[in-house]
Amino acid sequence: MKTLLVTGGAGFIGANFVHYWLAQYPHDKVVVIDALTYAGNMANLAAVNNNPNFTFVQGDICNTVLVEQLLREHGVDTLVHFAAESHVDRSITGPDAFIETNILGTYSLLKAAKVVWLDGDTVVDHRFHHVSTDEVYGTLSATDPAFTEETAYAPNSPYSASKAASDHLVRAYHHTYGLNVTTSNCSNNYGPYHFPEKLIPLVITHILHNEALPIYGDGQQIRDWLYVTDHAYGIDLVLNKGRVGENYNIGGNNEWANIDIVQTICTLMDKQFANNSALAAQFPKAAAAQKGASASLITYVKDRPGHDRRYAIDATKTNNELGYQPKESFETGIAKTVAWYLNNEAWWRAVMDGSYKDWLQKQYD
Ligand code: NAD
Ligand code: TYD
Repeated sequence: MKTLLVTGGAGFIGANFVHYWLAQYPHDKVVVIDALTYAGNMANLAAVNNNPNFTFVQGDICNTVLVEQLLREHGVDTLVHFAAESHVDRSITGPDAFIETNILGTYSLLKAAKVVWLDGDTVVDHRFHHVSTDEVYGTLSATDPAFTEETAYAPNSPYSASKAASDHLVRAYHHTYGLNVTTSNCSNNYGPYHFPEKLIPLVITHILHNEALPIYGDGQQIRDWLYVTDHAYGIDLVLNKGRVGENYNIGGNNEWANIDIVQTICTLMDKQFANNSALAAQFPKAAAAQKGASASLITYVKDRPGHDRRYAIDATKTNNELGYQPKESFETGIAKTVAWYLNNEAWWRAVMDGSYKDWLQKQYD
């Protein structure tokens, strides 16, 4: 049985991971530390809040004393580190928070882990798992081979640079102090609880509001999309079977140009409206409610500065060593995601009515 400290567990992937873990390992204990920034949301954890094996602590990972206290008090043996500033566009307009949380916050966790797990009278059996991204590897052309764990880091945005810095710190704590670390580098996730500033939930919610679907540049940028529970499953395998000190790529072998993904979602949404007349009453503003085409909302806008052209993950090492294969196809994953947003209007309305709305408006002023 494990006791996990999950950082950033009220965010998109962290919350999905907590749900996954408590379902998979009902006897384990999970403690979440989350600062509840704009991206953190207690509603994401509502389903586990009453579980006696679950504890939530509102706190900042930069608070090393608090982290040390949590590691000791709860007898934590496994730290799974999701907490981060995660949106590339925000890192372009305001990098400070990315440096603070992603770099200094990770450093703070490493310091606390070293003190509690390594520096006492006896070394505690432990694992520090760091959740990273494929964006640290930089960008690919259409014909380049996909990123492997051997690809040299070449981050291009303040977000990916801050994640790369944190990956290096994690590596150094293993090499120098012997901390038992693993790192996973995952491709773009999608699924329930995804904050609607990111492409897929933004498109779904904008269709329902009949708002423009902004396509940056020519829309031919490519991302490799993975259903979020398959990310949680990959981390599970790394924790249980991964070799300490190693990086593992996690990906879905599922590359899509942005414009194609947006078109696909438009078609799916139109079908949902055609098959379910209640949706037109629920979302009367949507073009599809008046038998229009959601794709008519597609609008090409100014490109993101320094926009990476293509990400693609080669997950051969993870597949061969850990037996990893995603369980969800893109077809099933995107259908589940669309259904989740249609069934959880209250969740995304609450999120979109907050400070996010002002931030989004500023992007298009
Ligand atoms: P998110 O923005 O949805 O959630 C981040 C969470 O971290 C929020 O709950 C927020 O409140 C919390 N947080 C932020 N700063 C904090 C601080 N200083 N102290 C404590 N908590 C803090 O992000 P996400 O999409 O769930 O990403 C989670 C992790 O996965 C990140 O490390 C990200 O780099 C990585 N990742 C994300 C993707 C993706 O597609 N979203 C892909 C690969 C890797
Ligand atoms: P995003 O979801 O922000 O993830 P990331 O930048 O980490 O890959 O964006 C995915 C892709 O979609 C990326 O190439 C930028 C593009 N994009 C748009 O074209 N329009 C949008 O409104 C957003 C949010 C993203």
